[in-house]
Amino acid sequence: MTQDLRLTIAAELERARARTAALTDAVDETDLIRQHSPLMSPLVWDLAHVGNQEELWLVRDVGGRDPVRQDIDELYDAFKHARKDRPALPLLDPGQARAYVAQVRDKALDVLDHARFDPERPLLDNGFAFGMIVQHEQQHDETMLATHQLRAGEPVLTAPAPPPSRTPVSGEVFVAGGPFTMGTSTDAWALDNERPAHVVDVPGFFIDAAPITNGQYQEFIAAGGYDDPRWWSDRGWAYRVKAGLAAPLHWLHDGTQWHSRQFGRVSPINPGEPVVHVCYFEAEAYAAWAGKRLPTEAEWEKAARFDPATGRSRRFPWGDESPEPRHANLGQRHLSPAPVGAYPDGASPLGVHQMIGDVWEWLSSDFDPYPGFAAFPYREYSEVFFGGDYKMLRGGSFGTDAAAGRSTFRNWDHPIRRQIFSGFRLARDA
Ligand SMILES: [Fe+2]
Repeated sequence: MTQDLRLTIAAELERARARTAALTDAVDETDLIRQHSPLMSPLVWDLAHVGNQEELWLVRDVGGRDPVRQDIDELYDAFKHARKDRPALPLLDPGQARAYVAQVRDKALDVLDHARFDPERPLLDNGFAFGMIVQHEQQHDETMLATHQLRAGEPVLTAPAPPPSRTPVSGEVFVAGGPFTMGTSTDAWALDNERPAHVVDVPGFFIDAAPITNGQYQEFIAAGGYDDPRWWSDRGWAYRVKAGLAAPLHWLHDGTQWHSRQFGRVSPINPGEPVVHVCYFEAEAYAAWAGKRLPTEAEWEKAARFDPATGRSRRFPWGDESPEPRHANLGQRHLSPAPVGAYPDGASPLGVHQMIGDVWEWLSSDFDPYPGFAAFPYREYSEVFFGGDYKMLRGGSFGTDAAAGRSTFRNWDHPIRRQIFSGFRLARDA
């Protein structure tokens, strides 16, 4: 049992590192050091930051070992320096960063070899600290993927196209009112903000069976949605004007039709794929134009997990088993969302499709703790963000790894952000 967990952890650490290497080896040293957008860190910062967190938690805390590079902690503390300021810091150069993360990893694997997964020690229970570090690296890999999307120049990433639509999916699904279990107390690697499991009574509602597609979003643009303040909240309209929003990020109009730029390649938009790279305010305006609203976080989670036959909440829409390629578009296997209808095997018991993978879905809820929340293992993971100017995002994107793709996983961001792989679906009251 302990040996199985050790092997699982080692494999997950290795898988995350292979992805980090692929994302950082794809570009030359100049591109690793350069800031591709003031919204993002230089890739070389993410790389060494991943190693630094691994050092702090696995080597020093879990392992009780001597520091590898205590002198650089401050440089790679995300709370000390805003992303836009990071290129000016005396960062490790690419060669130093690669050597540093390799050295830390050697020590972390040695700590793993000797670790006892003592339930009395919460950080080690079921290997939690290792799972946290796996998820941290995978989340930074998604951030680095978003940096790649913002990078100018020749394409450097390749992946097969996502699967085609296999079944027609449209319209809404009715979710009857009543209680369901939200969050989790049992998922071993769930983070503090997903805990504890608690019962929420959700009034009946309708939710879209699929995310809003490029084709649907194009109709909003064609109807003058970006020019009509009626559809926008006050804050949304002010931002729409200030930022000059006229289409999702990375969309270009060639005078005839809409194209999008994906990882350096420009091609006509696929009307059947979920729209991606919209901010909360755009999602909110589309919803108002369509005469609907964004789902709440509880509605989203109930539609994703609740099984009316058993009254249970599943770990994933399709069941409790971990995602396989047939279930969801996760893990950067493809470099875009898959068309609606591509994952019939991943539908929830209520018949809601593509809740996991493809695009993060903006929700109307703010980032608040669940009843009974306890910060673990540190306040900076979640607690310091509660009550801030954030909206929730759920379900992961094509760039989210399965390690962070469970349906209790909570993500949050500022409502103006759209460099992330964000889309949405709609809901309405019953
Ligand atoms: Fe981080």
